[in-house]
Amino acid sequence: MTNPEQPVIPEYSLDRDCTTLSRHALQQLHSFSAEAQDLSAILNRIALAAKLIARRLSRAGLMAGTLGFTGEMNVQGENVKKMDVYANDVFISVFKQSGLVCRLASEEMEKPFYIPENCPIGRYTLLYDPIDGSSNVDINLNVGSIFSIRQQEGNDLDGEAKDLLQNGRKQIAAGYVLYGPSTELVYSLGKGVHSFILDPSLGEFILSQENIRIPEHGPIYSTNEGNFWQWDEALRDFTRYVHRHEGYTSRYSGALVGDIHRILMQGGVFLYPGTMKKPEGKLRLLYETAPLAFLMEQAGGCATIGKKDLLDVVPDKLHARTPLIIGSKEDVRLVQSFIEKRESTN
Ligand code: AHG
Ligand code: MN
Ligand code: MN
Repeated sequence: MTNPEQPVIPEYSLDRDCTTLSRHALQQLHSFSAEAQDLSAILNRIALAAKLIARRLSRAGLMAGTLGFTGEMNVQGENVKKMDVYANDVFISVFKQSGLVCRLASEEMEKPFYIPENCPIGRYTLLYDPIDGSSNVDINLNVGSIFSIRQQEGNDLDGEAKDLLQNGRKQIAAGYVLYGPSTELVYSLGKGVHSFILDPSLGEFILSQENIRIPEHGPIYSTNEGNFWQWDEALRDFTRYVHRHEGYTSRYSGALVGDIHRILMQGGVFLYPGTMKKPEGKLRLLYETAPLAFLMEQAGGCATIGKKDLLDVVPDKLHARTPLIIGSKEDVRLVQSFIEKRESTN
C-alpha cells in the first residue's frame, strides 16, 4: 500500500531517463511558445550552473585556493567565502551570453548585474543565492543554491531595478539545488513541485519525483535555538510547547536549503524568526524566503512572516530581509496560534 503522503516516483524507464529538466518544463507549460522555450532554456542554464558548482564542491578539499574566506565583506555585512564568489561568477558566466535574461540579482552583489549591451538581452531577471549555507562549505556539509525567476516590468532606465520590489506572487518560477550525497534540483513553474537528480554518468538532471506534496503535519521543528532569548515571547511559547509534548524532534543544519528540503519531504516547520535587535530577521526575501515560500505553497504547505503570508510581503530594497516560518500547514498554524494568543493577552 503506497503512502498517499509520498510523491509518486516514476517507474524506471528509458523514457524517464529522457525526462530532462528542459523537457519537463515544456511539458509543464503545455506549450512550445517563445516564452515556454525561454523558461525551459533558463532552467537548463541553471542546471548547467548547478553542475559546475557541484563539480567544484566535489573536489574543493583537494584544490588549493578553493575553500576559506576571500577576506572581503559582502553587502550583507558577512565574510565572503571563495565558493560564494566562484558560484556567483558561474551564474554570471552561464547567463551572460544566453540571451535569456536582462539582469542577475544576487545575494553577493550590491546591485544587479546588467547584461552588457554587446550581449543578447532577455526579458527575465534571475535572482539567486549562489551558495546558501556558506558556513557549511569548508567542512563538507550540504550547501545549496536558491533561485527565483521574474519577468522584467517596464524598462528600468534608471538601473535601480525598482520593478523587482514587488511581492513574491510575481515570481514565475523558483527552486533550489541541494548539493548533498547526490545533487538534487527542486523547482516549480507554478504547476506543482518536482525534483531532479543529477546523474553524473549522463551529466543530466533526471526526473526523480513529480508533484511533491508536503505532509499536512510532521514531527520536525527546525530552528537555531541559540537565538531563543532574542525571540518574541510567542516564539518562546511555541518552543516550550514542542519541548514538553511528545512527537516533536529538532533538526537544524545551519543551511537553509537542506533544512527546508527535509521539511518539504518529511513535514514539520522551519523557523528563522526576527529578534528584538533585528525584527526583520536574517534571511533575504528576494532570493531566499520568497522562492522557498513559492515552492512550499506549490507543495501544499505555507509560509508566513508571523501573521502575514510571506508571498504578500513587498520589499523596500533589493536585499530586504524577512522572518520566516514555513512548512506544513498544521505546524505553521500551531506557531501562529501562539502569536495570536500573546497578542490577545497584550
Ligand atoms: P548564506 O550562507 O547564503 O548566507 O545563508 C545562510 C543562512 C541560511 O542558509 C541558514 O538557514 C541561516 O543562514 C543560518 O543562520 P544561523 O547560523 O544564524 O542559524
Ligand atoms: Mn542563503
Ligand atoms: Mn549565500
